[in-house]
Amino acid sequence: MPESPQQHAAKLAAAQAALHFVQPGMVVGLGSGTTATLFIQLLGERVQQGLQVQGIASSDSSEQLSRSLSISITNFEKHRTIDVAVDGADEVAPGLALIKGGGGKLLREKIVASASKRFIIVADDTKLVRQLGRFPLPVEVIRMAEPLVTERLRVLGFTPVIRQAKDGSGPYITDEGNLLLDCHSDGIADPAKTAADIRAIVGVVEHGLFLGMAERVLLAGADGVREITADERW
Ligand code: A5P
Repeated sequence: MPESPQQHAAKLAAAQAALHFVQPGMVVGLGSGTTATLFIQLLGERVQQGLQVQGIASSDSSEQLSRSLSISITNFEKHRTIDVAVDGADEVAPGLALIKGGGGKLLREKIVASASKRFIIVADDTKLVRQLGRFPLPVEVIRMAEPLVTERLRVLGFTPVIRQAKDGSGPYITDEGNLLLDCHSDGIADPAKTAADIRAIVGVVEHGLFLGMAERVLLAGADGVREITADERW
């Protein structure tokens, strides 16, 4: 579904708010998706005005965009930790439990998040939910294991669908050469148990449940940007 001008403005406001968390000299985790892309563009403007930072990108596309904006790119060979990472989310539930991976980049996004001292989510308020799972949970799988993983996910109550490339060329292939299963459900009542159950399936590379990782969410809506932390309930 194309986004409304209001949703775009909200994403931009959240991305702008995230710039406050970036200080000179930092290593910055660069997320993926439309909201993270707005953040990268704003960061690029700051870099062109003289801000010195280095970035570690969560996707090939974010890396290319960052380089095109003169953001210098580094890696985990040179830096084992990221000072602050900024990324989007598909759903945000209480406790800052997230679903990510709608853009297909969840594996590197989770690697970047796991190496970050501060993991900040930028999102518009359509992403806020009481329970995760209306958005299909993306699960990245090794290609040859897909039929086996699909069966196991069905036993867990999901209806997995192999994601297709937007250009109609066949299955979507991740940056790491794997398939993505978009797992439909009636809702994820216990995200921690679901995360553990999915992780235990051989052939799963990673899943899009990001639990206990986000420090805060910068959530933008008609009334501006508000910060949500893990102890808030809604
Ligand atoms: C990319 O794989 C995702 O995790 C995105 O961060 C997520 O889908 C949010 O994307 P938007 O900012 O485009 O809504």
